Amino acid sequence: MKSMTRPLWLRTVELCRYYRRGPQQVRAVDQVNLDVKKGEFLGIVGASGSGKSTILNLMAGLDTPTSGHIEVDGAVLGALSRRELATYRARRVGMVFQAFNLIAHQTALRNVELALYFNDTLPRERRHRATEILQQLGLGDRLDHRPADMSGGEQQRVAIARALVKKPEILFADEPTGNLDQANTLQIGDLLAGLNDQGLTVVLATHDLNMARRYVHRTVRMDYGRLTESGRARLNGEETGER
Ligand SMILES: Nc1ncnc2c1ncn2[C@@H]1O[C@H](COP(=O)(O)OP(=O)(O)OP(=O)(O)O)[C@@H](O)[C@H]1O
Ligand SMILES: [Mg+2]
Repeated sequence: MKSMTRPLWLRTVELCRYYRRGPQQVRAVDQVNLDVKKGEFLGIVGASGSGKSTILNLMAGLDTPTSGHIEVDGAVLGALSRRELATYRARRVGMVFQAFNLIAHQTALRNVELALYFNDTLPRERRHRATEILQQLGLGDRLDHRPADMSGGEQQRVAIARALVKKPEILFADEPTGNLDQANTLQIGDLLAGLNDQGLTVVLATHDLNMARRYVHRTVRMDYGRLTESGRARLNGEETGER
């Protein structure tokens, strides 16, 4: 199916997120209009500081825009009740944070299991699903390790497991392969592509143009908070097009 004909999952409308630092204002996200279609694999590329993490956090309902808004199924995120927003975050959205945000004193297994705590999943089912996804990510022998006792790449895979264990509709992945070697990067990319084939909508922020070129359907570029390019992207002159 051509991405043009897919229904919308989410759209941002004149979305702005400004930070004030003393007399200085940083326009981290500046008047962005972005459509995310159901089932697409969207890449967001851009230099460090261009606003990729900021816009992912906004779309995941973890931050509030300065102005503009985000629509999901026609509803404005900012108009949802606290409870509705919590449900959005706990059930529909998976987020892989750039800085992992793992709980330091909990094991890999507990970190992943806890994602299901607010999801009405039964305890036995929580443990089963957490174990399964960690095994799938090659961490079957690290279940009882705490973050400090794992490599950066292992922690990153725990963060990915935690986002996926909820079986979200959409995954926001912020540099999910930033700490991984080539082999693990391809493993994660293949995993995300496989989940996308099964219907998961994926929004990937990355510096890694090879990753973008290999896996995404469509790339948009951020530049000082602005979306500078959309539609079928050209990366180094090469059209990525549809997979
Ligand atoms: N809490 C904050 N207060 C002030 N400025 C901030 C804050 N968070 C981010 N910024 C600024 O907003 C801009 C966008 O930051 P953001 O983290 O979204 O960039 P990024 O594209 O994800 O960068 P990277 O590729 O390095 O992860 C940057 O200039 C950053 O310094
Ligand atoms: Mg970032």
